[in-house]
Formats: sequence, structure tokens, C-alpha cells
Amino acid sequence: MKIHTLVAGLVTAAFSLIASAQEPVVIKFSHVVAADTPKGKASEFFAKRANELTKGRAKVEVYANSSLYKDKEELEALQMGAVQMLAPSLSKFGPLGVKEFEVFDFPYIFDDYAELHKVTQGPIGASLLLKLEPKGIKGLAFWDNGFKSFSANTPIKTPADLKGKKMRIQSSKVLEEEFRTLGALPQVMAFSEVYQALQTGVVDGTDNPHSNLYTQKMHEVQKHMTITDHNYLGYAVVVNKKFWDGLPPELRAQLELAMKDATVYANQIAKEENDAALEGVRKSGKTAIYVPTKEEKLAFKKAMAPVHVKMADRVGKDLLQQIYKETGFDPTKL
Ligand code: LMR
Repeated sequence: MKIHTLVAGLVTAAFSLIASAQEPVVIKFSHVVAADTPKGKASEFFAKRANELTKGRAKVEVYANSSLYKDKEELEALQMGAVQMLAPSLSKFGPLGVKEFEVFDFPYIFDDYAELHKVTQGPIGASLLLKLEPKGIKGLAFWDNGFKSFSANTPIKTPADLKGKKMRIQSSKVLEEEFRTLGALPQVMAFSEVYQALQTGVVDGTDNPHSNLYTQKMHEVQKHMTITDHNYLGYAVVVNKKFWDGLPPELRAQLELAMKDATVYANQIAKEENDAALEGVRKSGKTAIYVPTKEEKLAFKKAMAPVHVKMADRVGKDLLQQIYKETGFDPTKL
């Protein structure tokens, strides 16, 4: 080999080494809601914090509003390594085979964020995240969104008002049973398709935390909503486990710290974001907002209570009992 060929080869190798040392680790973070939602804002916060703490060694690219993948596809993409990070709603892990996550879909199991945090930020939450690992997924954190309201084009003041209504739901068997118990006709549908389905009458109504309803403009195609708070909707932030375990330990530690900070931020803003969204709906004047009386809310609770018995085996009776113990909820004492 001629000497200048060798030198040229060495120079090229040295350059590519420098380039790869400087090449940031790209983390594609895909989600299905708008950027100005609790999840949208928290993912941007994480991207910024990760960049700061790793001094640019990690680059988090956030893809909002189903711009990369829809509900079901995003979990498949994560498992295949096409994206590295997601924050699907807890109601979307059932089809993956981790049915325990549907415990969050039990109606009225959490009265407020404080009760919920006893579970998500404590040992039960940690053990739930571990259940994802055999699926090649690592759970990093729980991020809040909020409590859901029903919406439709007709008023929903009593449980009977939902009878025969076609309602969009997320892919959770517990939610499906909940809507059937109310006499409604649940239809599983990707989040990105809900606005059009409401607009064209493919479904009559749905349920959402206010931030999701407002940022997708669903209030423009729903004449009525009722503040029932019947279910909580929140997220598990997850990564492809192989990718995460393969990161240099120092970088992973910095990213874990960024996630810790983003989680504090996410759970701080969730309530105010949802309150502001409700105010936005009110101001739009397009949707009549009904606030049920205490008695009317109790009627919804009672109507949905059988779900706790019917679906206990799906999530595991022990897990359900552990959560009742934390929150003080007792479906038999309504
Ligand atoms: C839904 O499909 O209604 C939600 O899971 C969307 C989301 O990510 O908040």
C-alpha cells in the first residue's frame, strides 16, 4: 500500500471517529395529541432539558398530533425501534398484552389527582411499569392529563341519556365494558380519526379530558358536554428497552434526570391546562357545558359501578384491592 493511501485512509478514519463522537444520539418521541396539551408541552420540555443536561449529546425530536404514527402503530413502531420514545395513554396498553394498565380505566376509581398520585408515583406505579419489560419496553414515568367528560350532540344529564349512543372509545376492554354497562355502543377508534368521525356522524359522541377535546376542536362538532369526571386519562412514558439499555450509562443517567424534571413539570401543568381548555370551550359558545349536581354525579357512579365487579379479573383482583386501599374507593358503598 502506498504511503499516501495509508495516510488518506487514516485521516478518513480519524474524521469519521470524530464525527461519530459528536453525532448526537437521536431520540424520536412520537405522540398523538396537539403540541399545546399537557403531553405536548411536557415532551417539548423533556427535549429541551435532555439537550441541556447532555450538552447536545442527545437530540430529542418530538412528533406531535399523530404526524408519525397513530395509536396502534406507534406501539409497534416502538417495539421495532422505528421510534425510541412514546407516551401512550394508559388505556392503550391492553392490546400489547399488559392488561393491568386498564385498572386506570375503572370508573371513578380516583377522585382527584392526589389520590391518583398515590398509585402512579408510588410502589404500585413502579411495579406496573416493570410489567412492560418482557415486551421490550421500559417504562420511565407517569404523566398526567386529566379527568374525562362525556360529549355528544344531545344533552347527557343522566346515564340513560347515553343509551343507544355510538361512542368513540380508546382500545381498552374496561372502557368497552363501561360503555356497554351504560347501554351505549362503544367503538374503538384511533385518536386522530375522532374529529372527523364526530363531524360526519360515524359516532354520536365521545369522552375526553378537556385539553384533548379543545385542542382537536371537537367542541366545534359536539353541541353538549357534561362534566362527569368518570375516568382518568394519563400516560406512561416508555422507551425501546434495547435502545435505552444500550446507551452509555452517563448519558442514560442525564436523560433520566431530564425525565424526572419533565415529569414534575407535566404533573404541575396538567390541571391548569385542562381548566384553561374548559374555559376555551366555554368562551367558544359552541358547546353547552353541563355541570351535574352531586346527586346526578352519584347516579353516574352507581350506573357504572358494576364494571368494578365485571372487569376485576381482567386487571387482577389483588391489584384492584391494592388501589382501593390507597384511594379509599369502595364500589359497594356508593
Ligand atoms: C385518546 O385516544 O383519546 C387519548 O389517548 C389521546 C391522548 O394521547 O391523550
